Parts: sequence; C-alpha cells; structure tokens
Amino acid sequence: MRIDIITCLPRLLDSFFAHSILQRAQQGGYVEVVVHDLRDYTADKHRRVDDYAFGGGAGMVMQIEPIARCIRALQADRTYDEIIYMTPDGERLNQRTANALSLRQNLIILCGHYKGVDERVRALFITKEISIGDYVLSGGELAACVLSDAIIRLLPGVLNDETSALTDSFQDNLLAPPVYTRPAEFEGHRVPDILLSGHEAKIDEWRHEQALERTRIRRPDLLE
Ligand code: 6GU
Repeated sequence: MRIDIITCLPRLLDSFFAHSILQRAQQGGYVEVVVHDLRDYTADKHRRVDDYAFGGGAGMVMQIEPIARCIRALQADRTYDEIIYMTPDGERLNQRTANALSLRQNLIILCGHYKGVDERVRALFITKEISIGDYVLSGGELAACVLSDAIIRLLPGVLNDETSALTDSFQDNLLAPPVYTRPAEFEGHRVPDILLSGHEAKIDEWRHEQALERTRIRRPDLLE
C-alpha cells in the first residue's frame, strides 16, 4: 500500500510516522508513506497556498491551483483508489471505513487548513471526505495521522501477533474485554480466577460475556 499525504505542515506529520508501529510498517515494506509539502506546488515566489474568501468573511481558503498541481503530479505516476479530504464535515471515521481502506492499493490524503479548501477541489478531485469526530481541530494533519494509523495497523504482517487486530475493540461491533498481566494479585486485588484456570474455552466464553457487558454499559448504540 502507498499513502500520499498532502499538507502545508509536513514536519508535523514526519515525527508521527517515524516511530513505533508506523515506522516498522514502513521499514518492513508493508506501506510507503510519502508526505508532500503543498508549498512545493505553488507557482508564485511567496509560496502562497491560501487567499481571502470571495464574498468576504473571516478566514483564509486554500487555493485550488497548488492542490491540483500536486494531485495531478501524483496521478501521473499511479492510479489512486481514493483521494480523501480530511474535514470536520466529512463522514465520521469508524472501524468499517478503516477496514475497507486497508484493502486499497494507493491513497491520497489531503489535509485541510484555515477555513478549508476551495469547494472546486472537492468537486473535481476528492472521492471521499472523512472526519474523525464531532469537534474541530486546527488542521487536518492530526486527523490524517489518526486515519493512517487505523489503516496501517490492519495491513497483514504489520502487527506482531497476526490475530491482534482481529480482537480489537469494534472489530465485531463490541468493545474489547478487560485484560490483566502479572502480578496475579496487587494490594489484595486479584485477577479473575477464570483467567488463571488454563481452560481456554471457558476463558473465551468469559471474554465474550465481558465484552458484551462492557458494550451494553458504555456503548449501547453499538448493539443496536
Ligand atoms: Cl478531519 N479536520 C479538522 N480540521 N477538524 C476535525 C476533523 C478533521 N475531524 C474532526 N475534527
């Protein structure tokens, strides 16, 4: 898989992808993440990527030319399955969307800033608009990191334990059950006996019940 991220704050993304699972996923050849500085695609000497909104009003709008130039340069080299725009008015990200996108080959993610992008960018280039929740961030960069992380950890081989992503919260529309590790007793608080029993079938059953109960209490909407 290849993910191209278009942003006017490339440094903000670099550190995120240079660590932990996301770093290993790239080093292992499971994913190639390429960050593009939108300012490299401007034509004027001031490297402007935004301008005042037609019709007035507060806030700058990201211009279409640098974005068009960047996307077209990428498209000259390969075909993209989706061109995603990160925006608070997009469809809310969930595990189903992450699963679907993890099966794709080439993705472009465009990070919005200021008051957003010129509407013609959305009409002409964008195939999918994604929000990461009902709150507003200063820019789409963090959201692009969230989306990329959710996708990349699903790629086969990225996680050490192959089954690990399958037992995540949300994979079966249930929250994950509680987990414990040593010591078996901490200041009088013991790990549930069933987990120490070695009885695999009963443990699976217990975990499923706990997942159901936890979901019923915390996220009843997932059970509907
Ligand atoms: Cl994708 N972008 C911004 N700027 N704010 C957000 C968001 C995205 N998702 C939730 N809030």
